Amino acid sequence: MIILGLESSCDETAAAIVETGDGARPGDARVLASVVFSQLAEHAHYGGVVPELASRAHIRHIGPVLKETFQAARWTPEKLDAVAVTQGPGLIGGLLVGLAVAKGIALAAGIPLVGIHHMEGHLLSPFLADPLPDPLDFPFVALLVSGGHTILLHVRGLQDYVFLGQTRDDAVGEAFDKGARLLGLGYPGGPAIEKAARQGDRQCIAFPRILLDKKKFDFSFSGLKTALKVQLSRQKTGEVPEHGLHDVAAAYQEAIVDTLAFKAIAACHHVGCRRLLVAGGVGANLRLRERLGEVAAAKIALFFPPLSLCTDNAAMIALAGWANLRQQPNPRWDSLDAKARWPIQEICADGV
Ligand code: KG4
Ligand code: ZN
Repeated sequence: MIILGLESSCDETAAAIVETGDGARPGDARVLASVVFSQLAEHAHYGGVVPELASRAHIRHIGPVLKETFQAARWTPEKLDAVAVTQGPGLIGGLLVGLAVAKGIALAAGIPLVGIHHMEGHLLSPFLADPLPDPLDFPFVALLVSGGHTILLHVRGLQDYVFLGQTRDDAVGEAFDKGARLLGLGYPGGPAIEKAARQGDRQCIAFPRILLDKKKFDFSFSGLKTALKVQLSRQKTGEVPEHGLHDVAAAYQEAIVDTLAFKAIAACHHVGCRRLLVAGGVGANLRLRERLGEVAAAKIALFFPPLSLCTDNAAMIALAGWANLRQQPNPRWDSLDAKARWPIQEICADGV
């Protein structure tokens, strides 16, 4: 099956063509082409994604991105078997652009169109790695960490996901981005904090590790951001000793990665699973990878998709499209609409 994937939920305009295997193994899929246009330059100046600018940039770039994707794959729209598009969650303007284009292609080619939950794409993304991480297989626990989400799932099989927990307030990517803003670093904040933290002393400030109850898998990061704000203002007034940028960044990052690592490994033990997958933009953080390794010891195998699959792309959406079409080969899409909010529980086995 040859599937076109489209992704436009945030600030990446992406298209990909993926060839899936005949069987039920996601690892048999091959990426024929994957093109991602990052709008970073358009938003960097504002310190975050500006929804209106993002929608307009998607409109400008989706045509050229699609053209480049078909050229790179040496494929044409008439030869596609299906289209998969991110239906949500995300910024409504961007989602609508992707959906409109996807509907046009599916209608013209007379092929099925399937709407995908963005995070289902992320959790299947490691199966697109070449070579495949060994021994990646179901079941595994997925820690999905991005600019909009912090989610723990027990992935028992294809389309068999059990919800374990998620953030109650800020997503972990937001904690990085907002923290970076307070520290006067650029956007996106994750890579900026990671870079600044490299030469810092992680232990110099004891930032709070929130919700570390081992039996609960929800997260909270808004208090940490406030703790950083308080620390910086107390440093200014001389109430606490002055720490430099590198040290504060290192201590702040350590509180985040510590919380993620303890929760994720505790979740693995809780469901009796010995594999942990980390996906989403924050998964690129090397200190997070190192800390997870320390907490997991030798008991749990860790999987991290390559960087190009960690961040938003459309190949993962095409693969999730294949997983959905195996269950429902002819989904109705005449009324398919964008969902800016779409709780992850709705695609889980025990969904609300
Ligand atoms: O998954 P993603 O590319 O986009 C969505 O939000 O869907 O994730 C973007 C987030 C941003 O908040 C960014 O600061 C964070 O991932 N990020 C990082 C790193 N690289 C990107 N956070 C920590 N360390 C990094 N190296
Ligand atoms: Zn994402």
